Amino acid sequence: MVTPRMAGFITRLAGLFDRVADPHERARAAADALAGLLRAGGILAPEHTEPDPRRYRQHLVHVDDRARFSVVSLVWLPGQHTPVHSHACWCVVGVVTGREAETRYRLDPAGRVVPAGTAVNLPGDVCWLVPPERDIHRVCNDGDRKAVSLHVYGADIAVRGSSINQVYPDPAARPRAPEHAP
Ligand SMILES: [Fe+2]
Repeated sequence: MVTPRMAGFITRLAGLFDRVADPHERARAAADALAGLLRAGGILAPEHTEPDPRRYRQHLVHVDDRARFSVVSLVWLPGQHTPVHSHACWCVVGVVTGREAETRYRLDPAGRVVPAGTAVNLPGDVCWLVPPERDIHRVCNDGDRKAVSLHVYGADIAVRGSSINQVYPDPAARPRAPEHAP
């Protein structure tokens, strides 16, 4: 089920995308529209906010009939997180409830990911990325209650399964070299 506000948002995005084709322009337009939607509230049906106790959960809310975009909700229990990953398409994220910490990464000359800053996103906050610019990140619910975010992706997620292009080893999980030689 899609709420009336969500149906209006989807119709608005489809109309916007009739006029703009550039990925940056589409992401920016979707971010503006999503910010307005988050202010309005009442945007997700209860079934699209259901968590999974094992891992963060993705609900496919809508796919554009011309596959120009998908709308997805992601639901996170405290501590649940994505892997470190890059993206196959542009991506706009708005927090509906809870708190999400997003760590971005850059690649070092050896191709390893290196942390490049963490931002905390709260309800109403919207951010976006357009590959391949600064599109490697890890997202975690670092709060103490369920978090829900709404994502707009520039691809058909029903076909792709997710927006993830590549998963990287998490540098926080790497074994550390001893500080002193024995
Ligand atoms: Fe992501």
